[in-house]
Order: sequence, then C-alpha cells, then structure tokens
Amino acid sequence: MSDESSETSGHNRELDALRDGLSRPLREIAAKYFYDDRGSALFERITELREYYPTRTEISILERDAREIMADARAGHLVELGSGAGRKIRLLLDRWEARDEGGRCTMLDVNQSFLDQSIEALARAYPRCAFDGVVGDFTTDLDRIAPSSAPRLTVFFAGTIGNLYPHERLAFFRSIAASMRPEDSLLVGVDLVKDTARLESAYNDSEGVTAEFNLNALRVLNARFDADFDESAFEHRAFFDRAQSWIEMRLRATRATSALVRATGQRVELSAGDEIRTEISCKFTADSLRNDLASAGLALRAWRTDPRHDFALAHIWSAP
Ligand code: AVJ
Repeated sequence: MSDESSETSGHNRELDALRDGLSRPLREIAAKYFYDDRGSALFERITELREYYPTRTEISILERDAREIMADARAGHLVELGSGAGRKIRLLLDRWEARDEGGRCTMLDVNQSFLDQSIEALARAYPRCAFDGVVGDFTTDLDRIAPSSAPRLTVFFAGTIGNLYPHERLAFFRSIAASMRPEDSLLVGVDLVKDTARLESAYNDSEGVTAEFNLNALRVLNARFDADFDESAFEHRAFFDRAQSWIEMRLRATRATSALVRATGQRVELSAGDEIRTEISCKFTADSLRNDLASAGLALRAWRTDPRHDFALAHIWSAP
C-alpha cells in the first residue's frame, strides 16, 4: 500500500470511529482528542496542580528506583509509548549505562511536533545514544517500531494505559506479548484505586484547569472535523465509578444545543443534561493488573509504589 492510501484508510477508520462514538446512546469521543498543542499545554498545567498527584508520584518512584529498574531490564533498546514532552525518560537514560555504548531509544507519540522537539532535545543531552521517532497511536502502531537486536525495555508512563477500556487493554497487552522475547520487558505506570474523594478531586481541580482541558476536546473536534460545537453550552463533569474502577470525564450540555460535524456528515443534537463521554481513566490494584497480565501470557515481576500507595510502576515480562 502506498503511504497516501494507507493514510486515507487510516483517516476513514478515524471518521468511522468518531461517527460511531457520536451516535451511541451515551455519546463518546476518544481521549486522544484532548491533545492538540493547547490541550497538551493544559495537561502540563494539570500535572502541576496540587490535586493531581499521579505525575509527581510517578516521578518520585522513578527517581528512587530508576537504577534498579535499568539493572533489572538489562536493555540495549528503550522504547517509550505516548512519550509526550519526553521528560520522564531522562530519569531512565541518566541511569542507563548502555546509553554510552550504542544504546538506542525510540519514542512513539501522536503529536509530531512534540516528538520532533523531544527527540532533538534528547539527542543533544545524550549524544552517544541513537534516538528515533514514530508518529503513531500505541494501540495500532506498535508494529511500526523497528525490531531490536538488543534486549528491549518498553515504557508506558503516566497511567495512560488507563484510557483504554478493559477489552482494549487486554488487546494491547496481547499485542505487546506477541512481540516480546524472553529478554524483553515492559514498564507500565498505573494509577491505583484509592478513596473516592482524592480520586475525584484530582479530576475536579479548584482552578478549573481540568474543566478547560475537557472542554478543549470540542475545539479539537471543531478544527479537525469541521464541526461547530458551542463550548459555552457545556460543562465539565468527572466522577469515580467504583464498580468499573475508572474515573469518567464527561461534557454535559447545560442547555439544548446542536452541532454539525461536516467531516462525518452528522448532526449531533443534545438536550439540556445530555452528556458526551470524553475519557475513562482506569484505576488498578496489583491483583487487578496481575489478572490482566495472566490472560495475556505476561507476568508481573516487580511492583514499585510510593509510601502512600497512590501510584505504581509495574515491571512486566513474558510469563515463563
Ligand atoms: C494522561 C491519561 C494519564 O487519565 O489522569 C488528566 C489525563 N485527564 N486529567 C489521566 C487526564 C484528566 C491523564 N492521563
């Protein structure tokens, strides 16, 4: 397939998914639509909020345990999925001896400009390590990462795995498992189940940054799909669903409103109180993760958490 036709069919799949999501009884759009440049900047602000503990907690675990993680992994090739600004990988690179002995590092992200910038900065900071980038989606584009000759460590930070529905998460683990050799491993950051008040305040911050971030998805839809959602007709909502073990973010219409999505040829009509689901963010326990891994032929070899057990880094290998 030529590049052009594969891009066209990728685009058609995306339109089909959007149309399908917007025509369900509970309308739904994918969480990746937060992240244009404005949304990515808003997310950076979220990571600094007092209420939003995951980022600083994950960094504290990495600062404490990076050396041990790199010693366990014995990797010659690092792969980061959903790398974003590419700051956390530095904590691993700093303690990676192979970086000076022909180490390789591949970054995969949906945002081309974020990817280019972070690779450029990393290449400057770690001149003896070879960096490359793949613009893509971690659920569909893992096969576009070039094979590794050395043992590979794949890292997936931030708890972004929580954005996948359980069946998608299983498919993700299975596809990683299919490409893993016995010497390869996977490091995944997961946000942990905790009391509802702390979970919900992380997604309902007092400065309203998360609300802006959520509403930004409408601007992204308007720009990318030639739509005309009226941001002023929606309000932010986030709640913990303990039965599903996930935070759900929604946009609720505060009055009757409608939008035309020209790219899908769809009119979306909402009454006051109707909602659009914009994100799920699953919360884990060591046992819930172990169950997922077992059904994908993977095993949890190390579980590193902070003293409060807010967040964990799970180090995963092929099941023996
Ligand atoms: C970047 C997906 C890990 O789920 O906590 C932050 C995104 N959404 N506040 C998360 C997010 C609302 C974040 N992840």
